[in-house]
Amino acid sequence: MRRLLIAGNWKMNCGPYDAAELLEGLKTKKAEVDEHVDVLVCPPFVSIGMAVKYLYDTDIQVGAQNLHFEENGAFTGEISGSMLAESGCNYVIVGHSERRQYFGETDESVNKRTQIALEHKLAPIICVGESLEERQKDEHFELVKDQITAALKGISETNALDVVIAYEPIWAIGTGETATPEQAQVMHEYIRTVISDIYSNETAEQINILYGGSMKPANAHELLSQPDVDGGLIGGASLDADSFSEIITIAEELS
Ligand code: PGA
Repeated sequence: MRRLLIAGNWKMNCGPYDAAELLEGLKTKKAEVDEHVDVLVCPPFVSIGMAVKYLYDTDIQVGAQNLHFEENGAFTGEISGSMLAESGCNYVIVGHSERRQYFGETDESVNKRTQIALEHKLAPIICVGESLEERQKDEHFELVKDQITAALKGISETNALDVVIAYEPIWAIGTGETATPEQAQVMHEYIRTVISDIYSNETAEQINILYGGSMKPANAHELLSQPDVDGGLIGGASLDADSFSEIITIAEELS
């Protein structure tokens, strides 16, 4: 009953010109996507307009990589949820580990961003995941539970149905190292029990849990075949139209 979601996180890559080239490639290969699969690209803010324009007649949706939790005002350099909605975004990544690591985002600010995203009908993709050190100390389950519990604080069960969780072990992001399908499945299953404890089993069964961390065509099939892996948040491989399209095709074959 859950649809697979294949989401590209372009990070700080592709200004409007490069975005147009990448989108053109993607559009040529995947303008139409199987009805059981959702596809999303999250370009940097300055290329969102270009992406919306290019993709308007395709099945590919557009999201952002971050948002501010205030509505408007004196917050130089920030972008609000209403601006993203107005620009044509349907999703927004929240609390990516790079935001937490380099830009001081906390569980509390992730919660505020989640709330404001939902208010603007932007589906928040909440990123959680442990460092290598935390995994080695066997703290990863507790940490991920705390991150999810904090992010969902005050979010109603109805609104939670629009939330997407992305499990991204920090040690697997951009490193070429991937969690094994078993490691991913065990954590995703655990995340579902955490959501079930907060809301209900029914809600937990409906929420999409993506895996992120060096997903590529070579490992996408085995990761996406896991029963609790409902898609991927893809960095590096989403910058190449061939690789990203191949992952979409794998998802289509599995649906
Ligand atoms: P990666 O990035 O696929 O390049 O590891 C994933 C992410 O950070 O979302």
